[in-house]
Amino acid sequence: QRILLINGPNLNLLGTREPQIYGSTTLNDVVTQAQTQAAGLSIQIEAFQSNHEGAIVDKIQAARGNKDGVIINPGAFTHTSVAIRDALLGVGIPFVEVHVSNVHAREQWRRHSYLSDKAEAVICGLGVFGYTAAIDFAAKHMKVKNV
Ligand code: DQA
Repeated sequence: QRILLINGPNLNLLGTREPQIYGSTTLNDVVTQAQTQAAGLSIQIEAFQSNHEGAIVDKIQAARGNKDGVIINPGAFTHTSVAIRDALLGVGIPFVEVHVSNVHAREQWRRHSYLSDKAEAVICGLGVFGYTAAIDFAAKHMKVKNV
């Protein structure tokens, strides 16, 4: 399978940003581990990070017809972005929503996501292991539907 791994705003700071909440693993570590895991599962992962909503929308649109699944940590856009929701629904590619932190144990407004009701699965609070779990799930369950 071909999986697109998207990280949204401020996730480029993973490892140094509020480490008491997000841990000390960097995004680079996450992507390296994801590629190692993907090789073992015989799947392909393309990793993309952007702080810009429109760039994420463009990337999702470009995935149409060439990706089987999306794993997305939308960062703060989780709680604000109708555009990212519409892009994911527009391309019709199944997606898994990942959050490093337990968004339900934080500010009340983090409990609402514009994506969760359309996601195949929502993972939060597992730390960066959430990406590992999502990739494992994607390899098993996001089979080629999008050809
Ligand atoms: C996050 C949770 C969001 O509320 C926050 O804005 C982030 C990261 C997480 O991975 O826990 O940027 O998506």
